[in-house]
Amino acid sequence: MRVIAIVNQKGGCGKTTTTVSLAGALAADGHRVLVVDMDPQAHATLALGLEPDDLEANLYEVLVEPGGASRLDSVIVDVADRIDLAPSSIVLSALEQKLASERHDARTERLAAALETLPPLYDYVLIDCPPNVGLLTFNALRAAREVIVPLETSFFAIDGVQKLLETIGLLSDRIGHELQVRVLPTLYDGRTRYARQTLGEIRELFKELCFDSVIRLNVKLREAAKHGVPISRYAPSANGAIDYAAVAMELEASPPEQQWLRTRGEDAVAAAAGRAREVVVRFKDASAGDVRIAGDFNGWVPDRGVKSLIASEGQERVWTKVLTLEPGTYQYRYVVDGEWREDPSNPRSAPGPTGQPNSILHVR
Ligand SMILES: Nc1ncnc2c1ncn2[C@@H]1O[C@H](COP(=O)(O)OP(=O)(O)OP(=O)(O)O)[C@@H](O)[C@H]1O
Ligand SMILES: [Mg+2]
Repeated sequence: MRVIAIVNQKGGCGKTTTTVSLAGALAADGHRVLVVDMDPQAHATLALGLEPDDLEANLYEVLVEPGGASRLDSVIVDVADRIDLAPSSIVLSALEQKLASERHDARTERLAAALETLPPLYDYVLIDCPPNVGLLTFNALRAAREVIVPLETSFFAIDGVQKLLETIGLLSDRIGHELQVRVLPTLYDGRTRYARQTLGEIRELFKELCFDSVIRLNVKLREAAKHGVPISRYAPSANGAIDYAAVAMELEASPPEQQWLRTRGEDAVAAAAGRAREVVVRFKDASAGDVRIAGDFNGWVPDRGVKSLIASEGQERVWTKVLTLEPGTYQYRYVVDGEWREDPSNPRSAPGPTGQPNSILHVR
């Protein structure tokens, strides 16, 4: 069970949309997902088609009442194929006051304790957080091993994000488990120069902590929330559905342990020897119809053993390829409409057996 908190104290940056759409994308891939709505605004509950006032039970009793942890199971509602929800309600906003007299530790581990009582039903637990770093968010961070920070690309306040990352860092020291943090650019409008620049800055700053995928502005995401269904069901071919499917694929490709290896030094690299991990590469082109990848890792058979996803980005199409590779150095080329080409986005190349240059990929 991978527990992922979706956190940012900034309002309206796409936390709830990410939680619900990612739940839809992961469920479409066959995973069982639990959405935990930790926001008193109950937007995730609404976006999954439930009216908070109509529900008999919600997370309040689980988090506040004595012995509430074991009641999580009875609060959970089945909302869609392979998606369950632990619903929220406005009463959750009283949590802070209600628990004021308790020890800090006891207050912040309520959700973690409740999740531990669940049978091993879920592959993913996605926790939607409110736009502040109060007790509800602390509970989410304490329960999670991974964090996704959605960042609006039309607005980038570096101070706010750094503060949030500091808070997460402090908390992971205190709770004794590491939180794997990744940043997801959202609300991206590629037509504006400002958005393109902001995306560049975000990538530059967060490097491998940034998802390769970007969530574009897509009005269908808003409509899906209004209709109370994830975008994967409401409009499966919309950009919003495609973008979140790509995020799901990135998540599936890198469980936390592998991210950990990527951010550590040579020791960890040595320890990883003999252990395969998934590597994501992307190819963009405006006119290509069919793009495959071939290299010494798949016997130069185009796309053999490779997971593939196609999306559109403005005028261009983007092919995302997921390769399963052990640490080492590999040569590869793209096959674009039958023509073998170097990777235009990769400056590293070496002459192949026929004298033509092959692109080089190092897997640490
Ligand atoms: N990629 C997108 N394209 C278009 N609209 C979007 C996109 N992502 C989110 N929205 C819309 O923007 C608004 C804010 O998004 P969302 O509710 O997901 O943000 P949030 O971070 O959860 O907000 P809050 O901090 O209030 O909880 C919503 O109306 C949502 O439908
Ligand atoms: Mg929200």
